[in-house]
Amino acid sequence: MKVAFIQTSPEFGRIEENVESVLRNIRSPGLRGVDLIVLPELFSTGYQFKSKRECLALAERVPEGYASGKLIEAALRNKFHIVFGIAEREGGKTYNSAALAGPGGFIGVYRKAHLFCNEKKIFSPGNTPFKVYSAGKAKVGMMVCFDWFFPEAARALAVKGADIICHPSNLVLPYCPEAMVTRCIENRVFAITANRVGVENRRRGERLKFIGTSEIISPKGEIMRRASRNRVQVGVVSINPKDARDKRITPLNHIFRDRRKDMY
Ligand code: ACM
Repeated sequence: MKVAFIQTSPEFGRIEENVESVLRNIRSPGLRGVDLIVLPELFSTGYQFKSKRECLALAERVPEGYASGKLIEAALRNKFHIVFGIAEREGGKTYNSAALAGPGGFIGVYRKAHLFCNEKKIFSPGNTPFKVYSAGKAKVGMMVCFDWFFPEAARALAVKGADIICHPSNLVLPYCPEAMVTRCIENRVFAITANRVGVENRRRGERLKFIGTSEIISPKGEIMRRASRNRVQVGVVSINPKDARDKRITPLNHIFRDRRKDMY
């Protein structure tokens, strides 16, 4: 199975251009024959909303919205699965969401549970429990950016049977790329963190530099592919999702069965 991230550099609010830029990457020879693609958080809008009202104006219904529609169409046509971070609107609320689509169309949405810093002023906290979906030969789960800081998120997905954690991100703190190595080792899963690059400086006193460093990590914590800190880039790796299914660390240790839930 071939899995990939696309590391992007979106321009805030320019939804059509940002979608077109991803579609160009999808059409490029490097991504031919790929089975699963992960895009960054808020890939179509950019990150730094000035207000809830601005976010409501740019967010879309999932799966009916423009950007979702374009990616669902791409998944149908190219017969791959894709996870993308999207500003989702439902009624008067917005969610920082990740959506999954595949060769059969739209599959499901996850709404970010752990909102980071000023996201709390813009988005409603997620209300979709961590869930695992079939994506071809793999079981995949979704979490969004800062969710990594809460080990329970990756653990919940792993316990529910995820082989691959799909992790759309807009990272600004430096810790995640190394921390995801541990998340993968402690859960014996693959992870695909798709981040963006560039700077947003739309709110006074809050210049955000995104750290790139998108990566694909194996269940043994090997960094199979890691992108640069500042360039738009695609990363593709061949994996066997079954490598995530043996949860024994030694003949006498199993990472789930050995948990001492009585002591936590
Ligand atoms: C983040 O959760 N986008 C830092």
